[in-house]
Amino acid sequence: MDKIIIEGGVPLKGEVAISGAKNAALPILAATLMAPGVHHLANVPPLADIRTAKRLLALMGVQFEDGEPLRVDSSNLTGWMAPYEMVKTMRAAVLVLGPLVARARQASVSLPGGCAIGARPINLHLKGLEAMGVKITLNQGYVEAKAKRLKGAEIIFETPTVTGTENLLMAATLAKGTTVLKNAAMEPEVGDLARFLTAMGAQIEGIDTEVLTIHGVPELHPVTYTIMSDRIEAGTYLAASAITRGEVTLTNAPVAHLSAVLEKFQEAGVRLTAEPGKITVHPGGTLTGVDVRTLPYPGFPTDMQAQFMALMCLARGASVITETIFENRFMHVSELKRLGADISVSGNHAVIRGVKQLKGAPVMATDLRASASLVIAALAAQNTTEIHRVYHLDRGYAHLVEKLSRLGARIKRVEA
Ligand code: EPZ
Repeated sequence: MDKIIIEGGVPLKGEVAISGAKNAALPILAATLMAPGVHHLANVPPLADIRTAKRLLALMGVQFEDGEPLRVDSSNLTGWMAPYEMVKTMRAAVLVLGPLVARARQASVSLPGGCAIGARPINLHLKGLEAMGVKITLNQGYVEAKAKRLKGAEIIFETPTVTGTENLLMAATLAKGTTVLKNAAMEPEVGDLARFLTAMGAQIEGIDTEVLTIHGVPELHPVTYTIMSDRIEAGTYLAASAITRGEVTLTNAPVAHLSAVLEKFQEAGVRLTAEPGKITVHPGGTLTGVDVRTLPYPGFPTDMQAQFMALMCLARGASVITETIFENRFMHVSELKRLGADISVSGNHAVIRGVKQLKGAPVMATDLRASASLVIAALAAQNTTEIHRVYHLDRGYAHLVEKLSRLGARIKRVEA
Protein backbone atom coordinates (compact mmCIF):
# COMPACT_ATOMS: atom_id res chain seq x y z
CA MET A 1 0.00 0.00 0.00
CA ASP A 2 1.48 3.32 -1.08
CA LYS A 3 1.96 6.50 0.89
CA ILE A 4 2.63 10.05 -0.22
CA ILE A 5 5.50 12.08 1.24
CA ILE A 6 5.40 15.87 1.06
CA GLU A 7 8.03 18.44 2.06
CA GLY A 8 5.91 21.52 2.61
CA GLY A 9 6.56 25.23 2.26
CA VAL A 10 6.99 25.61 -1.53
CA PRO A 11 4.71 28.18 -3.26
CA LEU A 12 3.11 26.36 -6.20
CA LYS A 13 3.74 27.94 -9.61
CA GLY A 14 2.63 27.25 -13.16
CA GLU A 15 -0.34 25.78 -15.01
CA VAL A 16 -2.46 22.71 -14.27
CA ALA A 17 -5.08 21.21 -16.61
CA ILE A 18 -8.30 20.05 -14.95
CA SER A 19 -9.47 16.54 -15.91
CA GLY A 20 -12.91 15.21 -16.76
CA ALA A 21 -15.45 15.01 -13.91
CA LYS A 22 -15.65 11.71 -11.99
CA ASN A 23 -19.22 12.41 -10.88
CA ALA A 24 -20.35 13.07 -14.46
CA ALA A 25 -18.42 10.20 -16.08
CA LEU A 26 -19.86 7.58 -13.69
CA PRO A 27 -23.59 8.16 -14.50
CA ILE A 28 -22.79 8.72 -18.20
CA LEU A 29 -20.98 5.37 -18.40
CA ALA A 30 -24.00 3.70 -16.74
CA ALA A 31 -26.32 5.44 -19.21
CA THR A 32 -24.54 3.83 -22.18
CA LEU A 33 -26.38 0.63 -21.14
CA MET A 34 -29.61 2.23 -22.34
CA ALA A 35 -28.63 2.73 -26.00
CA PRO A 36 -27.34 -0.51 -27.54
CA GLY A 37 -24.37 0.21 -29.83
CA VAL A 38 -21.01 1.96 -29.95
CA HIS A 39 -20.52 5.18 -27.97
CA HIS A 40 -17.42 7.38 -27.98
CA LEU A 41 -16.76 9.23 -24.73
CA ALA A 42 -14.09 11.94 -24.61
CA ASN A 43 -12.43 13.41 -21.47
CA VAL A 44 -13.12 10.34 -19.30
CA PRO A 45 -10.77 10.80 -16.29
CA PRO A 46 -8.18 8.04 -15.58
CA LEU A 47 -9.41 7.18 -12.06
CA ALA A 48 -9.78 4.04 -9.95
CA ASP A 49 -13.56 4.58 -9.75
CA ILE A 50 -13.78 4.72 -13.56
CA ARG A 51 -11.85 1.45 -13.81
CA THR A 52 -14.31 -0.11 -11.33
CA ALA A 53 -17.26 1.18 -13.37
CA LYS A 54 -15.79 -0.30 -16.56
CA ARG A 55 -15.22 -3.66 -14.86
CA LEU A 56 -18.83 -3.60 -13.61
CA LEU A 57 -20.25 -2.84 -17.08
CA ALA A 58 -17.99 -5.47 -18.65
CA LEU A 59 -19.67 -8.02 -16.35
CA MET A 60 -22.90 -7.11 -18.15
CA GLY A 61 -21.42 -7.56 -21.61
CA VAL A 62 -20.22 -4.03 -22.37
CA GLN A 63 -16.95 -3.93 -24.32
CA PHE A 64 -14.37 -1.15 -24.02
CA GLU A 65 -11.51 0.02 -26.22
CA ASP A 66 -9.27 2.39 -24.30
CA GLY A 67 -8.14 5.57 -26.01
CA GLU A 68 -9.30 9.16 -26.45
CA PRO A 69 -12.21 9.01 -26.95
CA LEU A 70 -13.03 5.85 -25.01
CA ARG A 71 -14.95 3.39 -27.23
CA VAL A 72 -17.91 1.80 -25.38
CA ASP A 73 -19.87 -0.99 -27.09
CA SER A 74 -23.13 -1.72 -25.23
CA SER A 75 -24.72 -3.76 -28.06
CA ASN A 76 -24.91 -7.02 -26.10
CA LEU A 77 -26.35 -6.96 -22.62
CA THR A 78 -25.60 -10.36 -21.12
CA GLY A 79 -26.14 -9.61 -17.43
CA TRP A 80 -27.95 -7.27 -15.04
CA MET A 81 -26.22 -7.88 -11.74
CA ALA A 82 -24.00 -5.50 -9.73
CA PRO A 83 -22.18 -7.74 -7.24
CA TYR A 84 -21.45 -6.89 -3.60
CA GLU A 85 -17.68 -6.93 -4.24
CA MET A 86 -17.99 -3.99 -6.63
CA VAL A 87 -20.70 -1.99 -4.92
CA LYS A 88 -18.86 -2.12 -1.61
CA THR A 89 -15.79 -0.53 -3.25
CA MET A 90 -17.80 2.10 -5.14
CA ARG A 91 -21.30 3.16 -4.03
CA ALA A 92 -21.86 4.87 -7.38
CA ALA A 93 -22.27 1.37 -8.83
CA VAL A 94 -25.90 1.82 -7.78
CA LEU A 95 -26.22 4.04 -10.90
CA VAL A 96 -26.76 0.94 -13.06
CA LEU A 97 -30.14 0.31 -11.37
CA GLY A 98 -32.20 2.79 -13.45
CA PRO A 99 -30.58 1.94 -16.82
CA LEU A 100 -30.86 -1.85 -16.27
CA VAL A 101 -34.52 -1.72 -15.27
CA ALA A 102 -35.23 0.54 -18.27
CA ARG A 103 -33.41 -1.67 -20.80
CA ALA A 104 -33.57 -5.21 -19.37
CA ARG A 105 -36.71 -4.76 -17.25
CA GLN A 106 -34.76 -6.27 -14.38
CA ALA A 107 -31.75 -5.64 -12.17
CA SER A 108 -30.02 -7.21 -9.21
CA VAL A 109 -27.89 -4.65 -7.41
CA SER A 110 -26.13 -5.12 -4.10
CA LEU A 111 -27.50 -2.66 -1.55
CA PRO A 112 -24.71 -0.20 -0.78
CA GLY A 113 -23.80 -0.23 2.91
CA GLY A 114 -22.86 2.89 4.87
CA CYS A 115 -19.56 4.65 4.17
CA ALA A 116 -17.01 6.76 6.08
CA ILE A 117 -18.98 9.98 5.57
CA GLY A 118 -22.47 8.75 6.41
CA ALA A 119 -25.25 6.14 6.25
CA ARG A 120 -26.12 7.19 2.69
CA PRO A 121 -29.35 5.18 2.18
CA ILE A 122 -30.89 4.78 -1.32
CA ASN A 123 -34.52 4.74 -0.16
CA LEU A 124 -35.38 7.69 -2.44
CA HIS A 125 -34.00 5.84 -5.48
CA LEU A 126 -36.16 2.80 -4.68
CA LYS A 127 -39.26 4.82 -3.79
CA GLY A 128 -39.04 6.64 -7.14
CA LEU A 129 -38.63 3.42 -9.12
CA GLU A 130 -41.64 1.89 -7.32
CA ALA A 131 -43.69 4.97 -8.32
CA MET A 132 -42.71 4.14 -11.92
CA GLY A 133 -44.12 0.63 -11.55
CA VAL A 134 -40.97 -1.26 -10.62
CA LYS A 135 -41.39 -4.16 -8.20
CA ILE A 136 -38.58 -3.93 -5.63
CA THR A 137 -37.65 -6.69 -3.21
CA LEU A 138 -34.61 -7.04 -0.96
CA ASN A 139 -33.03 -10.46 -1.05
CA GLN A 140 -29.80 -11.38 0.81
CA GLY A 141 -28.46 -7.85 0.59
CA TYR A 142 -29.49 -7.37 -3.01
CA VAL A 143 -32.09 -5.04 -4.48
CA GLU A 144 -34.09 -7.17 -6.92
CA ALA A 145 -35.94 -4.92 -9.36
CA LYS A 146 -38.45 -6.09 -11.97
CA ALA A 147 -40.83 -4.26 -14.29
CA LYS A 148 -42.89 -5.06 -17.41
CA ARG A 149 -42.47 -1.50 -18.71
CA LEU A 150 -41.74 1.59 -16.64
CA LYS A 151 -44.52 4.17 -16.55
CA GLY A 152 -44.23 7.93 -16.09
CA ALA A 153 -44.85 9.31 -12.58
CA GLU A 154 -44.64 12.49 -10.54
CA ILE A 155 -41.88 12.18 -7.96
CA ILE A 156 -41.08 14.76 -5.26
CA PHE A 157 -37.73 14.17 -3.56
CA GLU A 158 -37.81 14.67 0.23
CA THR A 159 -34.25 15.92 -0.14
CA PRO A 160 -32.32 16.63 -3.37
CA THR A 161 -30.23 13.53 -4.04
CA VAL A 162 -27.62 13.55 -6.83
CA THR A 163 -27.45 9.87 -7.78
CA GLY A 164 -31.13 9.45 -6.89
CA THR A 165 -32.05 12.13 -9.44
CA GLU A 166 -29.67 10.55 -11.96
CA ASN A 167 -31.10 7.02 -11.52
CA LEU A 168 -34.70 8.14 -11.97
CA LEU A 169 -33.83 10.54 -14.79
CA MET A 170 -32.24 7.65 -16.70
CA ALA A 171 -35.12 5.24 -15.97
CA ALA A 172 -37.71 7.83 -17.03
CA THR A 173 -36.21 8.39 -20.49
CA LEU A 174 -37.47 4.96 -21.68
CA ALA A 175 -40.68 4.92 -19.61
CA LYS A 176 -44.17 5.01 -21.08
CA GLY A 177 -45.51 8.56 -20.60
CA THR A 178 -44.16 11.57 -18.75
CA THR A 179 -42.21 11.72 -15.51
CA VAL A 180 -41.79 14.87 -13.44
CA LEU A 181 -38.98 14.97 -10.88
CA LYS A 182 -39.50 17.76 -8.32
CA ASN A 183 -36.89 19.02 -5.82
CA ALA A 184 -34.38 17.27 -8.04
CA ALA A 185 -30.64 17.78 -7.57
CA MET A 186 -29.24 20.60 -9.74
CA GLU A 187 -25.58 19.62 -9.55
CA PRO A 188 -23.79 20.32 -12.87
CA GLU A 189 -23.02 16.61 -13.18
CA VAL A 190 -26.79 15.91 -13.30
CA GLY A 191 -26.99 18.49 -16.11
CA ASP A 192 -24.14 16.80 -17.99
CA LEU A 193 -25.95 13.45 -17.76
CA ALA A 194 -29.20 15.06 -18.97
CA ARG A 195 -27.36 16.50 -21.97
CA PHE A 196 -25.83 13.11 -22.75
CA LEU A 197 -29.30 11.50 -22.59
CA THR A 198 -30.72 14.25 -24.82
CA ALA A 199 -27.94 13.63 -27.35
CA MET A 200 -29.01 9.94 -27.35
CA GLY A 201 -32.57 10.98 -28.20
CA ALA A 202 -34.18 11.54 -24.79
CA GLN A 203 -36.78 14.30 -24.33
CA ILE A 204 -35.99 16.23 -21.15
CA GLU A 205 -37.20 19.69 -20.10
CA GLY A 206 -35.90 21.80 -17.23
CA ILE A 207 -32.24 20.70 -17.38
CA ASP A 208 -30.20 22.44 -14.64
CA THR A 209 -33.38 23.26 -12.69
CA GLU A 210 -35.04 21.53 -9.73
CA VAL A 211 -37.96 20.36 -11.85
CA LEU A 212 -37.09 17.85 -14.58
CA THR A 213 -39.83 16.75 -17.00
CA ILE A 214 -39.01 13.65 -19.02
CA HIS A 215 -41.21 12.50 -21.90
CA GLY A 216 -40.45 8.79 -22.35
CA VAL A 217 -39.27 7.59 -25.77
CA PRO A 218 -39.27 4.01 -27.17
CA GLU A 219 -35.48 3.88 -27.70
CA LEU A 220 -32.17 5.75 -27.55
CA HIS A 221 -29.19 5.66 -29.91
CA PRO A 222 -25.44 5.66 -29.19
CA VAL A 223 -23.50 8.92 -29.47
CA THR A 224 -20.14 10.68 -29.22
CA TYR A 225 -19.93 12.93 -26.15
CA THR A 226 -17.36 14.93 -24.17
CA ILE A 227 -17.54 14.74 -20.36
CA MET A 228 -17.49 18.09 -18.49
CA SER A 229 -14.48 19.21 -16.41
CA ASP A 230 -14.23 18.39 -12.71
CA ARG A 231 -15.25 21.37 -10.55
CA ILE A 232 -14.15 19.60 -7.35
CA GLU A 233 -10.69 18.81 -8.71
CA ALA A 234 -10.48 22.47 -9.77
CA GLY A 235 -11.51 23.65 -6.29
CA THR A 236 -8.87 21.36 -4.77
CA TYR A 237 -6.08 22.95 -6.84
CA LEU A 238 -7.39 26.41 -5.92
CA ALA A 239 -6.99 25.54 -2.23
CA ALA A 240 -3.50 24.03 -2.79
CA SER A 241 -2.36 27.14 -4.64
CA ALA A 242 -3.85 29.57 -2.09
CA ILE A 243 -2.49 27.79 1.01
CA THR A 244 1.08 27.82 -0.43
CA ARG A 245 0.69 31.49 -1.43
CA GLY A 246 1.49 30.38 -4.99
CA GLU A 247 0.69 31.63 -8.49
CA VAL A 248 -1.17 28.94 -10.42
CA THR A 249 -3.42 28.95 -13.49
CA LEU A 250 -6.06 26.23 -13.85
CA THR A 251 -6.97 25.43 -17.46
CA ASN A 252 -10.09 23.51 -18.63
CA ALA A 253 -11.60 24.95 -15.46
CA PRO A 254 -15.45 24.81 -15.22
CA VAL A 255 -15.64 28.44 -14.00
CA ALA A 256 -19.43 28.70 -14.36
CA HIS A 257 -19.89 25.75 -11.98
CA LEU A 258 -17.68 27.20 -9.25
CA SER A 259 -19.47 30.43 -8.27
CA ALA A 260 -20.11 29.54 -4.62
CA VAL A 261 -16.55 28.23 -4.23
CA LEU A 262 -14.85 31.22 -5.90
CA GLU A 263 -16.96 33.58 -3.81
CA LYS A 264 -15.79 31.95 -0.54
CA PHE A 265 -12.15 31.98 -1.64
CA GLN A 266 -12.36 35.68 -2.44
CA GLU A 267 -14.21 36.40 0.81
CA ALA A 268 -11.30 34.68 2.60
CA GLY A 269 -8.87 37.08 0.93
CA VAL A 270 -7.56 34.82 -1.85
CA ARG A 271 -6.68 36.92 -4.85
CA LEU A 272 -7.89 35.24 -8.04
CA THR A 273 -8.98 36.09 -11.56
CA ALA A 274 -11.31 34.04 -13.71
CA GLU A 275 -12.18 33.95 -17.40
CA PRO A 276 -13.96 31.26 -19.42
CA GLY A 277 -12.06 27.99 -18.90
CA LYS A 278 -9.32 29.59 -16.79
CA ILE A 279 -8.79 30.59 -13.16
CA THR A 280 -5.56 32.11 -11.82
CA VAL A 281 -4.64 32.29 -8.15
CA HIS A 282 -2.31 35.18 -7.34
CA PRO A 283 -0.05 35.48 -4.27
CA GLY A 284 -0.55 38.27 -1.72
CA GLY A 285 -3.73 39.18 0.13
CA THR A 286 -4.35 38.21 3.76
CA LEU A 287 -6.01 34.86 4.37
CA THR A 288 -8.91 35.49 6.75
CA GLY A 289 -11.32 33.11 8.43
CA VAL A 290 -14.79 32.93 6.84
CA ASP A 291 -17.83 30.83 7.71
CA VAL A 292 -19.04 28.17 5.28
CA ARG A 293 -22.21 26.07 5.16
CA THR A 294 -22.34 23.14 2.76
CA LEU A 295 -25.52 22.97 0.69
CA PRO A 296 -26.92 21.28 -2.42
CA TYR A 297 -25.91 23.02 -5.66
CA PRO A 298 -25.72 25.98 -6.29
CA GLY A 299 -24.65 26.24 -2.64
CA PHE A 300 -21.11 25.48 -1.38
CA PRO A 301 -20.36 21.82 -2.23
CA THR A 302 -19.83 19.31 0.55
CA ASP A 303 -17.09 17.79 -1.65
CA MET A 304 -15.04 20.98 -1.09
CA GLN A 305 -15.64 21.19 2.67
CA ALA A 306 -12.48 19.34 3.81
CA GLN A 307 -10.21 21.13 1.34
CA PHE A 308 -11.52 24.54 2.40
CA MET A 309 -11.10 23.58 6.06
CA ALA A 310 -7.40 22.90 5.43
CA LEU A 311 -7.07 26.45 4.05
CA MET A 312 -8.88 27.93 7.05
CA CYS A 313 -6.33 26.28 9.37
CA LEU A 314 -3.82 28.98 8.34
CA ALA A 315 -6.26 31.90 8.07
CA ARG A 316 -6.26 34.89 10.37
CA GLY A 317 -9.03 34.60 12.99
CA ALA A 318 -11.71 31.92 13.29
CA SER A 319 -14.12 30.27 10.88
CA VAL A 320 -17.11 28.01 11.40
CA ILE A 321 -17.77 25.24 8.88
CA THR A 322 -21.24 23.65 8.99
CA GLU A 323 -21.75 20.35 7.17
CA THR A 324 -25.44 19.91 6.26
CA ILE A 325 -25.28 17.09 3.69
CA PHE A 326 -23.50 14.17 5.39
CA GLU A 327 -23.66 13.32 9.07
CA ASN A 328 -20.07 12.13 9.46
CA ARG A 329 -17.87 14.27 7.22
CA PHE A 330 -15.32 15.59 9.70
CA MET A 331 -13.00 12.55 9.66
CA HIS A 332 -10.14 14.81 8.46
CA VAL A 333 -10.31 17.00 11.60
CA SER A 334 -8.30 14.71 13.87
CA GLU A 335 -5.66 14.26 11.16
CA LEU A 336 -5.38 18.03 10.54
CA LYS A 337 -4.95 18.45 14.28
CA ARG A 338 -1.98 16.07 14.09
CA LEU A 339 -0.42 18.71 11.79
CA GLY A 340 -0.97 21.35 14.46
CA ALA A 341 -4.37 22.72 13.42
CA ASP A 342 -6.68 24.16 16.09
CA ILE A 343 -10.17 22.75 15.40
CA SER A 344 -13.08 21.85 17.65
CA VAL A 345 -16.16 19.99 16.51
CA SER A 346 -19.65 20.12 17.95
CA GLY A 347 -22.33 18.20 16.06
CA ASN A 348 -22.17 19.31 12.42
CA HIS A 349 -20.20 22.48 13.21
CA ALA A 350 -16.42 22.76 13.19
CA VAL A 351 -14.72 25.84 14.62
CA ILE A 352 -11.27 26.47 13.09
CA ARG A 353 -8.96 28.94 14.81
CA GLY A 354 -6.17 29.93 12.42
CA VAL A 355 -2.62 29.07 13.49
CA LYS A 356 0.66 30.60 12.31
CA GLN A 357 2.17 27.36 11.13
CA LEU A 358 1.40 23.69 10.48
CA LYS A 359 4.08 21.09 11.10
CA GLY A 360 4.58 17.85 9.18
CA ALA A 361 3.60 14.47 10.75
CA PRO A 362 2.38 11.01 9.67
CA VAL A 363 -1.38 11.15 8.92
CA MET A 364 -4.08 8.75 7.67
CA ALA A 365 -6.48 9.31 4.76
CA THR A 366 -10.07 8.22 5.56
CA ASP A 367 -12.07 9.14 2.45
CA LEU A 368 -11.52 10.80 -0.90
CA ARG A 369 -11.95 14.49 -0.04
CA ALA A 370 -10.49 14.13 3.48
CA SER A 371 -7.28 12.83 1.87
CA ALA A 372 -7.21 15.84 -0.46
CA SER A 373 -7.40 18.15 2.57
CA LEU A 374 -4.36 16.41 4.10
CA VAL A 375 -2.38 16.90 0.87
CA ILE A 376 -3.30 20.62 0.87
CA ALA A 377 -2.30 21.09 4.53
CA ALA A 378 0.95 19.15 3.99
CA LEU A 379 1.92 21.42 1.05
CA ALA A 380 1.94 24.37 3.49
CA ALA A 381 3.30 22.56 6.57
CA GLN A 382 6.88 22.82 7.75
CA ASN A 383 9.00 19.68 7.31
CA THR A 384 7.75 16.30 6.17
CA THR A 385 4.23 14.85 6.12
CA GLU A 386 3.52 11.21 5.31
CA ILE A 387 0.00 10.46 4.11
CA HIS A 388 -1.07 6.83 4.43
CA ARG A 389 -3.90 4.95 2.63
CA VAL A 390 -3.60 7.12 -0.47
CA TYR A 391 -5.73 4.68 -2.47
CA HIS A 392 -8.57 6.98 -1.44
CA LEU A 393 -7.01 9.71 -3.60
CA ASP A 394 -6.71 7.44 -6.65
CA ARG A 395 -10.47 7.17 -6.72
CA GLY A 396 -11.00 10.82 -7.60
CA TYR A 397 -7.76 12.63 -8.54
CA ALA A 398 -6.04 11.96 -11.87
CA HIS A 399 -2.20 12.09 -11.78
CA LEU A 400 -2.24 14.11 -8.53
CA VAL A 401 1.46 13.60 -7.67
CA GLU A 402 2.58 14.37 -11.25
CA LYS A 403 0.39 17.47 -11.50
CA LEU A 404 1.59 18.86 -8.14
CA SER A 405 5.23 18.04 -8.95
CA ARG A 406 4.93 20.03 -12.17
CA LEU A 407 3.75 22.97 -10.04
CA GLY A 408 6.96 22.68 -8.00
CA ALA A 409 5.68 20.70 -5.01
CA ARG A 410 8.19 18.44 -3.24
CA ILE A 411 5.96 15.40 -3.34
CA LYS A 412 6.53 11.72 -4.05
CA ARG A 413 4.62 8.47 -3.83
CA VAL A 414 6.37 5.47 -2.33
CA GLU A 415 5.46 2.01 -1.22
CA ALA A 416 4.61 2.09 2.50
C1 EPZ B 1 -23.19 12.36 -4.81
O1 EPZ B 1 -23.38 11.30 -3.87
C2 EPZ B 1 -21.69 12.41 -5.09
N1 EPZ B 1 -21.27 11.13 -5.64
C3 EPZ B 1 -20.93 12.70 -3.80
O2 EPZ B 1 -19.54 12.86 -4.12
C4 EPZ B 1 -21.42 14.00 -3.23
O3 EPZ B 1 -20.82 14.20 -1.97
C5 EPZ B 1 -22.95 13.96 -3.04
O4 EPZ B 1 -23.60 13.62 -4.28
C6 EPZ B 1 -23.51 15.28 -2.57
O5 EPZ B 1 -23.18 16.31 -3.44
C7 EPZ B 1 -21.47 10.90 -6.98
O6 EPZ B 1 -22.02 11.70 -7.72
C8 EPZ B 1 -20.99 9.59 -7.51
P1 EPZ B 1 -26.87 12.36 -2.33
P2 EPZ B 1 -24.86 10.76 -3.54
O7 EPZ B 1 -27.77 11.23 -2.66
O8 EPZ B 1 -25.70 10.87 -4.76
C9 EPZ B 1 -29.44 11.58 1.61
C10 EPZ B 1 -17.20 12.53 -3.93
O9 EPZ B 1 -16.44 12.92 -3.03
N2 EPZ B 1 -30.15 10.54 0.84
O10 EPZ B 1 -27.03 13.63 -3.06
O11 EPZ B 1 -24.70 9.45 -2.88
C11 EPZ B 1 -27.97 11.21 1.86
O12 EPZ B 1 -27.82 10.35 2.95
C12 EPZ B 1 -18.58 11.95 -3.54
O13 EPZ B 1 -16.95 12.59 -5.14
C13 EPZ B 1 -31.18 9.84 1.43
O14 EPZ B 1 -31.50 10.06 2.60
O15 EPZ B 1 -25.36 11.85 -2.47
C14 EPZ B 1 -27.33 12.57 2.06
O16 EPZ B 1 -27.49 12.97 3.38
C15 EPZ B 1 -18.72 11.72 -2.07
N3 EPZ B 1 -31.82 8.89 0.71
C16 EPZ B 1 -28.15 13.45 1.11
O17 EPZ B 1 -29.37 12.77 0.83
C17 EPZ B 1 -31.49 8.63 -0.60
O18 EPZ B 1 -32.10 7.74 -1.23
C18 EPZ B 1 -27.46 13.78 -0.21
O19 EPZ B 1 -26.94 12.60 -0.75
C19 EPZ B 1 -30.44 9.35 -1.19
C20 EPZ B 1 -29.79 10.31 -0.45
